This record gives sequence, structure tokens and C-alpha cells, in this order.
Amino acid sequence: MENQIVHLTAAHTSLIVRCTPFAEILYWGKRLSQFSADDIISLSRAVPNGRIDVEAPVNFSADTGRGSFGTPGMEGHRDGLDWSPVFNTTQVKHNGNQLTLITEDPLAGLQFRSELRLDDSGVLQARNSLTNLKPGTYQVTRLAVTLPLPERAAEVMAFHGRWIKEFQPHRTQLDHGGIIQENRRGKTSSEYFPAMMIGHPGFSEEQGEIWGIHLGWSGNHRLRADIKIDGRRLVQAEALYFPGEQRLKQGETLETPWLYASYSASGLNRMSQQFHRFVREQILRFPDEKPRPVHLNTWEGIYFDHDPDYIMQMATESAALGVERFIIDDGWFRGRDHDRAALGDWYLDEKKYPNGLKPVIDHVKKLGMEFGIWVEPEMINPDSDLYRAHPDWLLALPGYQQPSGRHQYVLDLNNPQVFDYLVERMSWLLGEHDVDYVKWDMNREIVQPGHDGRAALTAQTQQFYRLLDVLGERFPQIEFESCASGGGRIDFEVLKRSHRFWTSDNNDALERQKIQRGMSYFFPPEVMGSHIGNKLCHATSRQHSIEFRGLTALFGHMGIELDPVKEGEAERAGFAKYTRLHQQLRPLLHSGDVYRVDTHDGTMLINGVVSETRDSAVFLVSQLAMPTWSLPGVLRVPGLKPDARYRVTVLDEPPLLAGGGSGHTMRVQPAWLHESPVLSGEWLANAGLTLPVLDPESALLLGFEEVR
Ligand code: DGJ
Repeated sequence: MENQIVHLTAAHTSLIVRCTPFAEILYWGKRLSQFSADDIISLSRAVPNGRIDVEAPVNFSADTGRGSFGTPGMEGHRDGLDWSPVFNTTQVKHNGNQLTLITEDPLAGLQFRSELRLDDSGVLQARNSLTNLKPGTYQVTRLAVTLPLPERAAEVMAFHGRWIKEFQPHRTQLDHGGIIQENRRGKTSSEYFPAMMIGHPGFSEEQGEIWGIHLGWSGNHRLRADIKIDGRRLVQAEALYFPGEQRLKQGETLETPWLYASYSASGLNRMSQQFHRFVREQILRFPDEKPRPVHLNTWEGIYFDHDPDYIMQMATESAALGVERFIIDDGWFRGRDHDRAALGDWYLDEKKYPNGLKPVIDHVKKLGMEFGIWVEPEMINPDSDLYRAHPDWLLALPGYQQPSGRHQYVLDLNNPQVFDYLVERMSWLLGEHDVDYVKWDMNREIVQPGHDGRAALTAQTQQFYRLLDVLGERFPQIEFESCASGGGRIDFEVLKRSHRFWTSDNNDALERQKIQRGMSYFFPPEVMGSHIGNKLCHATSRQHSIEFRGLTALFGHMGIELDPVKEGEAERAGFAKYTRLHQQLRPLLHSGDVYRVDTHDGTMLINGVVSETRDSAVFLVSQLAMPTWSLPGVLRVPGLKPDARYRVTVLDEPPLLAGGGSGHTMRVQPAWLHESPVLSGEWLANAGLTLPVLDPESALLLGFEEVR
């Protein structure tokens, strides 16, 4: 079985794998149309002096036992033995664009299995598993997916963040020492979104080669981009295990989460478009085909202050604005008057709702809206009936004082009694009420996640998935939103069982522009919750015009989060206007290709969506801060058909510009701005449109329609 070669292809990508005698990726990059298996001779490597005498590959399991000195793809032992396996291929299963490679080390008694799927979208899915073939427990310390990268992959982009400031990009050179990103917060976390983009130095939205990866996992993770002294590079991703957490008895198997990878030769935009297409075709499962309904969420309107009559008034006002789904947030259950009590007591607060939830829900439905409700099932407040009855239901280590977070603890989902209690309470809520939507929150980090004294975070994460799976099967018509203090649990694996993410608790349009841009690299607009918040933003105390707030919220799954009863006429007219605009544009926004445009001025962000057929597009030009230059330059519009002609119209603009006005930073507008010129896609892509000078914290929305 020497040199069995498999070539997987997608529209823009090729992956070439040597399957035997061991499993190794030889090429991952631009699609090759002329490849023949004999070509691989050109990749046979030299053996340098001063090292071991044989060529040392970085195979799928990155065995150090072969003499490659990088981090191995797995680490473990059987009571001190079988700790340095060397895996050779025993089976190759190749079917279309799917490849499964089974490799074994009979001495160590281990099987290492790799699954690869290259989707039509260009996204590569990869997962490894380890099986203990011998008697005796095998303790696994690490199990990773390893992908080699070419020498030109020398710059890394990743995201850091925190509460109310998620998805902030940073860049660094990949050099000696490599880069490690570890998340130990117990959920996906906003500290490090589990992704890295490694590319040709200087890669941008529109230019350069990029290898982007995302680990679909909602627990702790470790990502590593590394370069060894022989110049070879790799990226490695894994769920991070606590000591003793993974013990395999004979015949048992441990799997890595799926790693999702997208190669682009045309900048970050192509990488994102491939991820978006993959999410749309392979992950998202909406209960029906209806457009994503515009939300009204009560949280920043009334917080814990629930009065059903008033909430019904809010619903009436919401419906008048064009809202399609009304969500009651935190505060509806027994004893929940503030954030210090009641989590776990999933019974209606009959003091607040003496007639039950039904009259409110009926009212919402009569207004033609869907009804949604907030829960945080994984949590328990020490001040709750549940805690008083079951203080031992915590995910914790006996003998230690577990620190609280937002005054709450985490329930141990590995305890069947806890799991069953939550299924029963959630089934009461969702089965006995006409609920269409659940906002599933998770508001603390996990410390000492112990079950029966042993580390149990991986199992907790899996039980969380199972809980959502059980409820999803029981209530297939109900949609779920994943929220964790805003964007703390956003990843592809949780998205398999949810339908929307709450991006951030920060509704400040200026901050949102950057947070949403960060999220857009991996997630399409229809799963990105984006709300128009109060004029005085609760997170930052900044104030923005309704135009800037409305346009910023437009490019996601839109909603409004405030008390519409208390708002004045002008604000309400604004909510209605942007709701209508979103509804009008949403078929395009929620199906088209997302583009982020390279600009020469960091104070300006430009993003847009081009329809699949490329006959229409919208682009938003957002001026975040005082422009660097007195002229903003030209927008060269990507994605349009070069030989088609498009009418260019202003769909929305800062009020000062309407009717030819000039704002504070401009004296005369560009002549085309209100002329709706018809221009070719070729001209728009190459010569472009001169932009007006916009005031800070304002935006301009441009529409492009093909003229036939
Ligand atoms: C945190 C969430 O991110 C908010 O949107 C809100 O639902 C609160 N929790 C409620 O307690």
C-alpha cells in the first residue's frame, strides 16, 4: 500500500492526501485541474544535516515517534506505557469528496481515525478519533486535528474579546515560537472565538491567500499555529481536557470536535463566503422557509419590571412598528425581581402574572406576531427553591468554595436528576404555552467543573448539546437563540441546534459596527442578532441618531430592544422605517454574498451584500470617526457582473445630506449622488464611485439594481 493518493476538489480548492503508508496532507490550496498522482514526486523532501537520518512527515496524528519534533496530534498513556505511538494506515475509505483513513499502532494498542469531507462550498471538515484497542484504561491528555500550511502562511489573524466588546480582530506574524490560543472559560467564550486565519502577509478583505479554521466546540479549546526550525508550518485545533477527564476503556473511542477550514486565494471575503454558504447549506435548519422575523426584545426596555398589561401595551406598539416576533426576556419566573435570585425555579411568577402567561401570548398572537421567551436553564442561584432543595446539584468540586458569577452557579448536567428536571421544566414551559422562540442564555464562566470529584467539562458541554437536542426533537417548530452574556457561545456546533446568536449586549451602533464585522467572517447575517437599542446606549451611555442605529442593525437578523411605549414620535417613525427597509432588503441580505471592502482609511467601514445572481446589491458606507483625509476616496464595488449595467441609488443617508445638503465635513456633494446613474459592473469595480464626506458616526446606504 505505498503512496495511495486521493485528490478532493471544490470550486476553488484542492486537497491532496497521501493515504499510505501513513496519512499525510500533501497539498491544500488553489484548485488544480491538471493534477496526476505521479506529480507528488516533486514534493519529496530533502533530509538536512544535523537531524535524524530520515524524512520526518507531519502526518495526520503528527506522531513525534517518527522524528518530527512538533506538538503531537495526540498525547496519552496506559499507566505510563504506550505513550509514543506511531500510526500506519490500515484502511482507506474514499467516496467522492469524503475520505476516512484508519491508522493503527498495534504495539500501543491504539487506532487513530481521520475523517475528511470537502464540501461543495469549499469548506473542509476534519475530525479525528482515538480508540483504545487493548485491555487497560488509556488516559488521553490531548487529541487534536492537525493541518499543514505552506511556508507563505506567515501572518495570523484571530479574535479576542470580552463582554460588550466581542469579536475584536488582532494580527501577528507567525514566527519562531508559534502562537497558542487557549480558552478555559468553560464555554466558547468571547475571550477567544475558536478560529484562526493564517495567510500570505498583508492579506486583506479582497486580496491574498488565506487558510481559515474554526473549531466547532462550545467548551474549552486550544488552537496553535506553529513553525518549526525546518520552516514547516501547521495549524492544530483541539478541545482542551482537564487532567483525568478522558479515560478510554478497551473498545472506547474519543472524538475531536469538527474542524472547519476554508482556503481562499481571493482574500478574506472568499473565505467568509465559503463559510457562509456551508452554514446555510449544511448547518442551519430553520423549522420553515419564512423570512427571519424582526424582533422586539423587552430586556433593555423594562428589565425585571414585568407587568402583563404594560407588556401587552409594548406588544401593541411593537406590532404597529412592523415587529414580527415579540420576546419576553428575563424576569417572568417566580422570585426573579433582580439578578440575585430564582434561577432554577422555572415556574411562572404568579404575583407578576396572576392570570398566567396565556393572555399575554394570545395578545401577541392576535397582533400577528410570534412569541418568544428567555431562559437560562444551566444555572442556579443560591437564593432559589431549587438550591435550597438540592444544594448538591452544582457542577463543582466537593470541599472547595465555588465562586459565584452574576450571583449564580452552574448545574451539573451530568447528573441525570438535574437533566430530567430541566427537560421537565422546559417541556412545561414550551409544551403548555404557545411559544415559537426561546432565547437560551448562559451568564457565567465555569470554575472547577467537577462531577463526582472528576473533571467533567467536556461531558457538561455534551450534555448541554443533548439537552438542546432533546428539546429540539420534542418541539421541532421552536427556534432557539444562543446567548451567553451576549456573544459568549457562538460556534458552528451550537448552531446545529440553534437558529440565531445574540451577538453582544452592546447595542451602541459604533461598537456594533466592529463587533458585527468580526462576527461576519464566519457567520452569515441571518444568524447575527442585531438590535436597534435606546438612543442613550445602556452599555456605553453614548448617543447615536436613529439613522446610524437603524443602518447598523439592518445587516443582521434585525430587532428592536427598548420600550416602544415610552419612545417619542420621531424615534418610533425611525424604528418603523428601518424595520420596513430591513424587511424589503432581507431576501437579499439573508441569501447573498457578503463583502467587506478594503478602505484606505480605518475610520470608515464598508460592507455589502451582492445577490446570488449578482443582479442586485446593497453597500453600507459607515463613517465611524473623524475622517483621516478630507476626501474619502472611491468605493470600488466588488461582486457585480462586469458586463451588466446597474442603477445606483441612495437608499438611506444622513438627514443633513438629503436634498443636496452637505453635513459638517463637506461643502459640495459628488455630482452623481442624487442622480441615480446607470453604470457598468466593470466600471463600478474598477473606477468606482467617489464617496461623499460623511460626518463621524453616520452612514450611507447605496443600492445597485441591474438595468436590462
Ligand atoms: C444577558 C443577556 O445577554 C441579555 O441580553 C439579557 O437576556 C440578560 N442576560 C438577562 O438577564
